[in-house]
Amino acid sequence: MAVSVVHGSRFTVRGIPSTVNRQPSTVRPSGLFIIGTDTGVGKTLVTAALAAALRAQGIDVGVMKPIETGCPTRMGRLLPQDAMTLREASGSRDALDLINPYRLREPLAPMVAAEVSGRRIDIGKLKESFARLAGRHRVILVEGAGGLMVPITERCSFLDLAGLLELPLLVVIGSRLGALNHARLTVEAALHARLSVAGAILNHPNKDRSHAQRTNLSALGRILPVPVVAQIPHLGAGGGQPLWRGPRLQRLLAGCLPRLLPELWRRDKET
Ligand SMILES: Nc1ncnc2c1ncn2[C@@H]1O[C@H](COP(=O)(O)OP(=O)(O)O)[C@@H](O)[C@H]1O
Ligand SMILES: [Mg+2]
Repeated sequence: MAVSVVHGSRFTVRGIPSTVNRQPSTVRPSGLFIIGTDTGVGKTLVTAALAAALRAQGIDVGVMKPIETGCPTRMGRLLPQDAMTLREASGSRDALDLINPYRLREPLAPMVAAEVSGRRIDIGKLKESFARLAGRHRVILVEGAGGLMVPITERCSFLDLAGLLELPLLVVIGSRLGALNHARLTVEAALHARLSVAGAILNHPNKDRSHAQRTNLSALGRILPVPVVAQIPHLGAGGGQPLWRGPRLQRLLAGCLPRLLPELWRRDKET
């Protein structure tokens, strides 16, 4: 069985819409909700690389990208590229519609992208899809979109969704000037809402090494109330292979797994 039973919610979530079922789910898998300080900071790279690292250790991992916006159209169909990357990295055979229940064309926050497409996102459907995936896998990795407070509906943000799914957060920090502020705002907001934060990863999507980029790790270590479990350098093109598959990144993230998913490692030792 992929999940463990809990007898109540660990989290108090503020601002949950009244239409959302507030009952805690009866099952909770090991997993992480991967959120970024912004869009384009490396959430998909980190989620895919973590999924591949878990898979390489023989751990059955499921993935979810609840809502993907900015999807290109191919042959009249929207292509959820992040969801497809995560599916490939995890080796999951779950249907793409389950991994990614909502895909939208406009590169906008989900609430707005849905509005301009004449749709509305049903949080209950996201919970249902998650529960089905959680019942199938030992670990589940969920990638958000943009940052923590990005709206899914008027009354539900990714912060609220992470609370509803009862997953600890992993915060991906894009290293640039402004990262200290964005990282602190993200982590403090999560802790204030009583979400659990497993840790943060400092990622360098850009090649340049500004003064801020050279000093971010040391500064974050002193000001963030959660551990920065890894720093990912800017990665060169991997000779045609996707960046998430690179051996250097795989080694780096494999080393973080026991800190990010301690329950899983404890359970492994006990069995
Ligand atoms: N450490 C890195 N080195 C090189 N390229 C990176 C790195 N991190 C991210 N990228 C690239 O930056 C872009 C945005 O990363 P992505 O993981 O898609 O961000 P997000 O999911 O947060 O929007 C992608 O093209 C990705 O390959
Ligand atoms: Mg992404």
